[in-house]
Amino acid sequence: METELVRMDREQADPQALERAGRIIRSGGLVVFPTETVYGLGGDALNPDSSRKIYAAKGRPSDNPLIVHIADMGDLPRIVKRIPQEAYLLAKRYWPGPLTMIFEKADSVPPQTTGGLDTVAVRMPSDPIARALIAASGGYIAAPSANRSGRPSPTLARYVVEDMDGRVDMIIDAGQALIGLESTIVDLTEGKPVILRPGYITEEMLREVLGSVEVDGAVNGADSSQPPRAPGMKYRHYAPKGRLFIVEGQADRAVPYINDYLARERAEGKKTGVIATDETAGRYRAGSIKSVGRRSDPEQIAREIFRILREFDDEGTEVICAEGFGESGLGAAIMNRLLRAAGHQVIRLS
Ligand code: TXA
Ligand code: MG
Repeated sequence: METELVRMDREQADPQALERAGRIIRSGGLVVFPTETVYGLGGDALNPDSSRKIYAAKGRPSDNPLIVHIADMGDLPRIVKRIPQEAYLLAKRYWPGPLTMIFEKADSVPPQTTGGLDTVAVRMPSDPIARALIAASGGYIAAPSANRSGRPSPTLARYVVEDMDGRVDMIIDAGQALIGLESTIVDLTEGKPVILRPGYITEEMLREVLGSVEVDGAVNGADSSQPPRAPGMKYRHYAPKGRLFIVEGQADRAVPYINDYLARERAEGKKTGVIATDETAGRYRAGSIKSVGRRSDPEQIAREIFRILREFDDEGTEVICAEGFGESGLGAAIMNRLLRAAGHQVIRLS
């Protein structure tokens, strides 16, 4: 398949190209498009063949459901059975934006889109190109992150091209994704709202609207006796090609620990790397040292973390140590992604 690459400005979308992209989706094709979180691999959510094609292009198990993206609150009733009061409150505050809600699905949504579940995940993105494309496509775009299954979510179009060239009809390049981590997922089907995946909309932000909210026990692999309620959370994600582990503890202990550990690995001929911060980057001795930004700026860390994991892959780094990040606020989402990339390998220095 020939993939058309279109460059587009977020502030100045190209209506003709968007019209073309919308036609592709309406006729059952696939378009990769920017969202504020990460790039999405889009197809018509109400067309079972489109969903099948998405799974094939991603190389993703078909029991892992897709998120349906809408651009207008008026389009929600067609795809869900009922809209709980909490959904109206959350939508009023955080839609359009990086929040996905799980509803009971209506019959209009084919089981191929929901991985056979009788619930459906819905998100209204804020990115203007995403919104215009959804409107031009008939209102409902199913879109997982536009990476091949198991690779870090793409925050730049060049990673989309790496993973998806020849597998989709069109890729819209709008530069760097502004948030860099996938949306927060909250399940509203069980009475009490439950966070299935932490994201930019933090637990605290949800609590402001809902009063109380729970976090699914499987979110950080803490409770492995229960299958996660978001099927995607059971797969090892964002896995770098090298061995990655996290070293948690004060910099004064973590930095020398990492230096010594990686020096031993290098002595054995291994290519090493560090996921550092601006505060510590200068204190590492050798190997590929990458700062995710300032510790005091979690938004920057969120934006950079997937790109840095991909860079280590491109360099062929074999052993990577990451510093740990706090678990409060946006830190919960950052650590969730890092823990899963590391296959939960953590060294805690007291
Ligand atoms: O920010 C995002 O959400 C991005 C952009 C493109 O919008 N999309 C994204 O999609 O991250 P994906 O497919 O990579 O992740 C979707 C997650 C998976 O973990 C999946 O299991 C979960 O959402 N999910 C989807 N439908 C669900 C449902 N009905 N019940 C529970 N979990 C669901
Ligand atoms: Mg994904």
